[in-house]
Amino acid sequence: AVSGSDLAARLGLTRTAVWKQIRGLRALGAPVDAVAGLGYRLAWPCEALDAGAIRALLDPALRRRLRNIAVHWQVDSTNTELLRGAAAGARDLSVCLAEVQSAGRGRRGRTWISPLGANVYFSLLKRFDGGMGPLSGLSLAAGVALAQALEDCGAAGIGLKWPNDVVADGRKLAGILVEAGGEFLGPCFAVIGIGINLRLPDDLDTGQPATDLARICVGAMPPRNRVVARVATRLVEALDRFVADGFGAFANAYAARDALAGRPVRVQATDGAHDGIAEGVDERGALRVRHGATLAVYDSADVSVRAA
Ligand code: BTN
Repeated sequence: AVSGSDLAARLGLTRTAVWKQIRGLRALGAPVDAVAGLGYRLAWPCEALDAGAIRALLDPALRRRLRNIAVHWQVDSTNTELLRGAAAGARDLSVCLAEVQSAGRGRRGRTWISPLGANVYFSLLKRFDGGMGPLSGLSLAAGVALAQALEDCGAAGIGLKWPNDVVADGRKLAGILVEAGGEFLGPCFAVIGIGINLRLPDDLDTGQPATDLARICVGAMPPRNRVVARVATRLVEALDRFVADGFGAFANAYAARDALAGRPVRVQATDGAHDGIAEGVDERGALRVRHGATLAVYDSADVSVRAA
């Protein structure tokens, strides 16, 4: 622990000003503990995000391609920031990271709870020439890449819940929000946003069962910059492959991690709720669900597992 008076001396602040800063960090969700009589300390070792450290962990060829890694202390949303960047001409494969998001966004208009320093908030801009048609399946391919990156980090028992939630023990570990822009039949882009729970505060209410990487890692969880480097590496590899071969190249890797296949599910689609048994995904990445004798295919829906 560091005492309040030590901090005050080091920062040239009054003790009251230090206390106000600590209160501000805590309000953003930072895991700062107060130790009676000793001062303040981080509840766990938490590495600050650092673009140089991330780039140093990349293979040289990828390092040359990822010239633009922006690390923010706080933004509304790393996806929104890159959407603005895309409109302003940001280069292909620009990356945006933040320690805290004030308006983190999830799929379907939901909020993505984004406390300071505890997690990873990552977005990447990918530009395409051939229009948006071929982009179906992109978000599932990104899910496969994210699952592989987390496995590289030591995560065990990872599954994918359609379309692209990463789950472990039936709880959500990471989520992906892909947003597209540009011309439908011309030059266009996708912003691929990834949120990974690294160490959730015990009392955090995420609105759904959640888990974190610290809990499911075999051995110690790697430092945050290393986690980010793995995610960037797997994601860019997957994008190269997706551009060359489409979603088909990911079908086996997706199926191997499909957490819904064979399970009773409820599909919440625009026309209401449908119960059935999940049967994997088709060649475009759409969800297949058997309702008795008919096999339905869903491009967009909310899916939950029913008690069998
Ligand atoms: C979901 O599962 O609903 C998707 C969650 C995506 C969250 C990430 S965090 C980084 C990026 N910025 C956002 O505002 N959202 C994505």
